[in-house]
Amino acid sequence: MNEIYKKLIRCRDIVRAKTDFEPKVALVLGSGLGGYASEMDVKATVGYDEIEGFPVSTVPGHQGRFVFGYVKDVPVVAMQGRVHYYEGYSMNDVVLPIRLMGLLGAKILFLTNAVGGINPSYSGGEFMLISDHLLYGVPSPLIGENIEELGTRFPDMSEIYKKNLRVKIKAAAESQKIKLHEGVYIQFSGPNFESPAEIRAAATLGADVVGMSTACEAIAANHMGLEICGISCIANLAAGISKTPLTHDEVQEAANLAAPLFKALVTESIYQIGND
Ligand code: HPA
Repeated sequence: MNEIYKKLIRCRDIVRAKTDFEPKVALVLGSGLGGYASEMDVKATVGYDEIEGFPVSTVPGHQGRFVFGYVKDVPVVAMQGRVHYYEGYSMNDVVLPIRLMGLLGAKILFLTNAVGGINPSYSGGEFMLISDHLLYGVPSPLIGENIEELGTRFPDMSEIYKKNLRVKIKAAAESQKIKLHEGVYIQFSGPNFESPAEIRAAATLGADVVGMSTACEAIAANHMGLEICGISCIANLAAGISKTPLTHDEVQEAANLAAPLFKALVTESIYQIGND
């Protein structure tokens, strides 16, 4: 058996020994949404450090645990803290938590993140529904021997972020009277913020926002057949568009400010997509 798959199964067995909770939606909590567990009817938590071999986030503001519970009546597993490629983990470890949530039974992956805005019509504190993505200068998580137990060698990527989920999330935003853009996310490796020239290039390539996490997670989830959706919180304007130098603290602060609206949007979206 493939070594990566073996590790994945070991991690699944460790989590399963702690809880038999069956999630429908797997929710990745980005910057600012770390406190989202307070919106959930929590049934169990499993710390990443309780799972042998599991990658642990080193980024300030990112905690490290799975939270199992209900959002309204929808069974959800939330990742409180994700790992990033720039932390030095292999791409296989970066996407291990995503694959694990799929093996725990999740059918839908709901990605959230904080991003820099590239599209000139976007402002800080607004939200964007991800319609598609660009993976730029970061290796695909599917490089290496294909894990046949998860999916095919050459997966189709023509509708990564499912239209039917996007329709429901747009309806959720409307019902909450929250402005929601729709556009393309580009992933750079980080940890440095981008140069203004890179942001101009990204705009030319068709990107509306920029981040350091999400596209590789979507690729791994798409490979194993999960339905995917994602919402970005525009924490800052990207380099060269922003009038001031970028700092992680400011990104974190802006994401925290937007958190109450973001939480409402995520909760209503999960309610809409979880009840079909
Ligand atoms: N660039 C990359 N990642 C980010 C940014 C940015 O400007 N803001 C928040 N995450």
